This record gives sequence, C-alpha cells and structure tokens, in this order.
Amino acid sequence: MSILAGKKAFVFGVLNEYSIGWHIARELHQAGCELAFSYFPGEKIERRVVKAVEPFHPRFLAPCDVGKDEDLTAAFAVAEEKFGALDILVHSLAFAPAEALHNPFLQTTRQAWHTALDISAYSLVAMARQALPIMNPNGSIITMTYLGAEKFIPMYNIMAVAKAALECSVRYLGAELGRHEKHIRVNAISAGAIKTMAARGVGDIDKMMAHYAEKSPLPWNADTAAAHVGKTALYLCSDLASGVTGETIYVDGGYNIVGW
Ligand SMILES: NC(=O)c1ccc[n+]([C@@H]2O[C@H](COP(=O)([O-])OP(=O)(O)OC[C@H]3O[C@@H](n4cnc5c(N)ncnc54)[C@H](O)[C@@H]3O)[C@@H](O)[C@H]2O)c1
Repeated sequence: MSILAGKKAFVFGVLNEYSIGWHIARELHQAGCELAFSYFPGEKIERRVVKAVEPFHPRFLAPCDVGKDEDLTAAFAVAEEKFGALDILVHSLAFAPAEALHNPFLQTTRQAWHTALDISAYSLVAMARQALPIMNPNGSIITMTYLGAEKFIPMYNIMAVAKAALECSVRYLGAELGRHEKHIRVNAISAGAIKTMAARGVGDIDKMMAHYAEKSPLPWNADTAAAHVGKTALYLCSDLASGVTGETIYVDGGYNIVGW
C-alpha cells in the first residue's frame, strides 16, 4: 500500500526498535513515505538511533533537545534544507524527572512540573510553530498520549498532568491549524501499555502489560501492541483521515472502555 508515496515525514522520539516512534516510522516507510529523524543529542544515543532507523533509509538525522528553542530552530532548518517541504510531523517523546514519578504526587516540585510540561507538552506547540512554514497543505501532525491524562494511574503523577495539557494542546492546535490556509490536521493517539524505555521509567511495565492482557477486550501483548499504534498513525498521517483533527484516538485494545 503506497498511500504515502511522495510524502515526507519528520519523526521525533525514536530511541530504539522498541520505541513507538520506530513502529510509526515502519508503517510510514512501508506506505512509501520518505523519512527523517531527530534524536536527543549525545553520541551514544546517536549511534543507537542511526542503527535503529537504518532500514528506513532516512534522508537525514538531526540532533534536537526539544527543551531548547535553538535546537528546534536548527532541526527544522535542516528539514527545510534537505526536504524543502514537509507533509507529516511525528511527536513521540516525553520526559519527567524520575523522582516526580516515584514520589507521592503531593511532593511534585515546581521544577519537575516545569520540566515535564515543557518537554512533554509545550514541545508539541513549539514544533508545530516551527513546522508550519515548511508544511505542505493538508499535512498531518501526530503526538502520543496516555489514559493517565484522564484517569488515575499509579505512579503516572506529573506525566498525567503533562498528557492532559498535551491533549488540550492538540484540540487548540487542531482548531487553529485546521482554519489556517494550509488546513493542517493535529491528532493524538492514546496508546495502551507498551514495553519501551520510557515505560520502564514510569513503573512496573511487566505488571502493567499483564494487566492490559487480562482486561483489554482485544488481545494486547508485547508482540503486537506497538504495531497497532503504528497502523493508526498511518491512518492519521494519510488522506484517509482528511476530516479528522483535534482528536485523541485510543489504540489500547479497548482497555479504556472497560469499567470492571
Ligand atoms: N510506552 C507506553 O506504554 C506509552 C503509552 C502511551 C503513550 N506513550 C508515549 O509515547 C511516546 C514515546 O515513548 P516510548 O514509549 O516510545 O518510549 P521511548 O523511550 O522509546 O521514547 C521516548 C523518546 O523521548 C525522547 N526524549 C526525551 N526527552 C527529550 C528531549 N528533551 N528532547 C528530545 N527527545 C527527548 C527520548 O530520547 C526517546 O527517543 C511518549 O510521549 C510516551 O509518553 C507511551
């Protein structure tokens, strides 16, 4: 299926082959999309990311700490130089200080709050602003969120607040950029538990995976979970979702609909 033939995507947040961003990239690549990646600066991370995305023949890789405006400006300048124009922007990253996830929520510090909200939510707004001038009409921006934005999840703490801000930002960006002459769509995918580096940082991911496997109406396991997310990302990035914006779409095997 080459539904993204001729399209160009800039993907932020691939760390390794387990990353949700990697599975999104795989679907976009299989659909004929040309890809480029951004990674958190550092030699060790760069080596890991270069190896992980090799199968996708990336046009370029650009270092970027999304907490730094100058990094974002530099990354999108590279995108303009190498790609000319962009059709798809993938925001698949988040960060909160470890102690803010493990301590009681009541103990959240002002600094941890700022860091988590800055890296995990504000970065989407900053990236959308950088991307807009070089985006083609009818382009698509997607981000990754989690059920913790709406319901209490043990140890999700400040990340839950950041995801609530992210989902709200998706609605405001969706409304503004939809009315923009380029009609850019902005959507979020709320994924079920997936065994990644970031998930390990939050808590007992094996216990969580087992819980999802038991409670989700559809089968949910480590072998297929990220691939499900990749497929919905492909839909949102393609013309099949031409009438969809500002949405948070659950891809969690139906876990969120179960009350008991
Ligand atoms: N794994 C899950 O169960 C799950 C569920 C729902 C949503 N999500 C979300 O999916 C997204 C991707 O996470 P993942 O699970 O694939 O984990 P991951 O660890 O593979 O990816 C997280 C990425 O964030 C990047 N990052 C962190 N701080 C950064 C910064 N300052 N600048 C640039 N990049 C930075 C890391 O380098 C990494 O590439 C995150 O938003 C996460 O909250 C994950």
